[in-house]
Amino acid sequence: MRSELAHDSAHLHVSGASEYVDDRPRLPNEAFLEVVYSAEPHARILGLDVKAALASEGVLGIFTAQDFHENMWGTIFQDQPLLAGDLVRFVGEPIALVAGASPAHARKAARLVKVKYRALTPLLSIRAAREAKSFIGTERKIEKGNVEAALAAAPFRQKGRIVIRGADHFYLESQVAVAYPEEDGQIEVHSSSQHPTEVQHVVAHALGIPQNQVTCIVKRMGGAFGGKESQAAPFAAYCALVARKLKRPARIVLSKDDDMILTGKRNPFENEYEVGFDQTGRILALDARLYSDGGAYADLSTAIMERAMLHIDNAYFIPHVRVTGQVCRTNFHPHTAFRGFGGPKGVATIERILESIAHTLGIDALDVRKANVYGQAEPRNLTPYGQEVENNLLPELFTALEKDSDYRARRQAIEKHNEAQRKKRGGELRGLSLTAVKFGISFTTRFLNQANALVLVHRDGTLQVSTGATEMGQGVNARIAEIVASELGLPREQVRLQPTRTDKNANTSPTAASSGTDLNGAAALLATRKIKKRLSELAVQILKIPESRWARHTAGLGTEKEIEVEDLEIDGGNPNQDGEWVSGLATYHGVRFEAGEVWHESDPARKVSFAGLVHEAYHHRISLSDYAHFKFPLLSFNKLTGQGRAFLYFTQGVAASEVSVNRDTGEVKVERVDLLMDLGRPVNHGLDMGQVYGGFVQGMGWVTTEKLFYNQRGLLVSHSPSTYKIPNIQDTPRNFRVKLHPNESNTPNVRGTKAAGEPPLLLAISVWTAVHDALKNKGEHYPDLELPATQEQVLRALYPQEFARWEKA
Ligand code: MTE
Ligand code: HPA
Ligand code: MOS
Repeated sequence: MRSELAHDSAHLHVSGASEYVDDRPRLPNEAFLEVVYSAEPHARILGLDVKAALASEGVLGIFTAQDFHENMWGTIFQDQPLLAGDLVRFVGEPIALVAGASPAHARKAARLVKVKYRALTPLLSIRAAREAKSFIGTERKIEKGNVEAALAAAPFRQKGRIVIRGADHFYLESQVAVAYPEEDGQIEVHSSSQHPTEVQHVVAHALGIPQNQVTCIVKRMGGAFGGKESQAAPFAAYCALVARKLKRPARIVLSKDDDMILTGKRNPFENEYEVGFDQTGRILALDARLYSDGGAYADLSTAIMERAMLHIDNAYFIPHVRVTGQVCRTNFHPHTAFRGFGGPKGVATIERILESIAHTLGIDALDVRKANVYGQAEPRNLTPYGQEVENNLLPELFTALEKDSDYRARRQAIEKHNEAQRKKRGGELRGLSLTAVKFGISFTTRFLNQANALVLVHRDGTLQVSTGATEMGQGVNARIAEIVASELGLPREQVRLQPTRTDKNANTSPTAASSGTDLNGAAALLATRKIKKRLSELAVQILKIPESRWARHTAGLGTEKEIEVEDLEIDGGNPNQDGEWVSGLATYHGVRFEAGEVWHESDPARKVSFAGLVHEAYHHRISLSDYAHFKFPLLSFNKLTGQGRAFLYFTQGVAASEVSVNRDTGEVKVERVDLLMDLGRPVNHGLDMGQVYGGFVQGMGWVTTEKLFYNQRGLLVSHSPSTYKIPNIQDTPRNFRVKLHPNESNTPNVRGTKAAGEPPLLLAISVWTAVHDALKNKGEHYPDLELPATQEQVLRALYPQEFARWEKA
């Protein structure tokens, strides 16, 4: 049952017919907004001179913090002003909104707004924030065993510090919103958001109106990658405010430059550690202290830190471990979710620790990893937070990829090649590294692990399904449609996912943590089964009566006895309870749904079409719509103790990357990647492969070329594609071999699938460690590259004396 159906919007995307928020037709009286934002990283605002701007042609109004009923917002802590009052805390912090009759009018007037600042001292690094004790939230800790004693007893000990920098999401559609004032004070807002419910709530709170006055609609996003989990909301609030004040539709569309300056990035981290290990490279103890740059406001940074801490082990068993995490408050844009959340920062840390252990001992890093990988039995399958690694395929994945990638032979060839190269000038060095991912699937904030779905069957047998899931390119709509369609034995085209709307699905979670299909797909499946059960009960009875007496022939005459059916009681915690494991399908009363037809097992020759059965159901006054709520079972993680089951399951994988490093230019090329992932039993193989390729390449950008440059006043100067280098088609590995490892045993998740959205990104860490591998020299210090390992980083590692000389000069 391997599905390769195309993305449900593929034909629209390739023909340019897909509609995004800014494709909504402009109405004649619409107002266009421009943001006036801070040029200072930290300053008192002494005054705002808007006279010239107000007098400028086509200006409809200027709005500031006082115009909001409630100006504070924030997903976890409400610590951030929608518009700055008398204090600004980062370059790009919104101060005022200018509404114009056209985007050009608004832009021109915005430049005329004069802000008078009194500069304050900014904190522009993690180090500076730590020194000033400028923190967000308190320090968190996860601990197991006795770290001090185990470190003291370890034959080898090593200390280190790892610098991990941020990255821009570089979604192609910038932050955007349109708001319409509706009858009786209602507001309809169209947003490019992963979290429509939060947009609804932020708008209602900011305007001081009840939540039932606000409807947020999200049809699709032109990419999000975590950047629209929290940070889409203020832009919707800006439009809602202006729409309400001016009684006109209001629209905001950020330019790429403004988007990059205003919005937060992946959190930078600076991690310190001490590790103890034995002669074989087995880790005996790890003491890790993680510090992240949260930027000026809390946003999601504390949850991101928590996920980083929960991924410090990655695929490896650590008997004694203590990991602490502290988010630092600086004067940068508030950093936020980005594919992998904190996971990549934990995983990059442990993967580099393993590589440097291997270097110290003079053994192959793959052997060190295999010595440390989680086992199948206690205690070697227990995470630092006490969750068991169930269904652990990691050892198998390592062995399979070692063989598939021809790792040992290539290792030898690379050693020979590098030895010969080092005798000459110029040329290139090669590096090879095989890393793993074990990504926990669930929001670590338990209450977010819930979803609801509304399923409508129309009279021609077609369906409309609404959930809280938002489509950002990942294919969640196509996957949910396939789950629903297959349950009813219909082609996918017969099921349409509707734009996400808060007036259809309330109290939804963001589409994030890779769990969009797991949560919303399960809810949709449960709602579908409620309908399926009623239809099955009806089918049993209908198929017993001659067709001439079916409602379609007698409708309205009232001659036939009306059939009544029972409703299904649903266990909202187990999406697989009624389903048969191999097919995934539930069967009620012995009735089968297949290829658009329905029949009873006792008489496969007597069939009714699905649409025909639906028609009968309507005439017997049987409900053809249903709703279900679903929540992940089993979760028990306690944030205070740092112990418990944090995740429903783990998505696992391994990748071996080979890089070449140019010794003259420092340029890194990814020559070959072999990648193997356990994605359970995919709903749609093609979409999952797309997530793997895309996630890996996006991760490559983060670990190699995507460097954010800030000037000394905290302004992001690399705020366009000309100065910020994301991977393009030329950068994708020439030789890219991706395989999915069959796994039929992921029983806790809907239909045995596994989430694919974020985990592949973490496998690109193998590219970063492969660059280290290319640069390392026997008997010398392990190379100390930052992440990303940019050309400059590589040249610094290759020619430290030259850099030292230049920097002195
Ligand atoms: N794929 C595309 N094409 N565009 C995106 O914005 N976001 C990623 C991932 N894959 C993203 C994407 C992130 S950060 C997450 S959490 C998941 O998709 C969210 O969707 P899912 O839960 O349905 O996998
Ligand atoms: N992942 C993504 N987004 C989130 C999470 C998470 O674990 N927790 C809260 N928001
Ligand atoms: Mo993804 S970073 O969880 O939106």
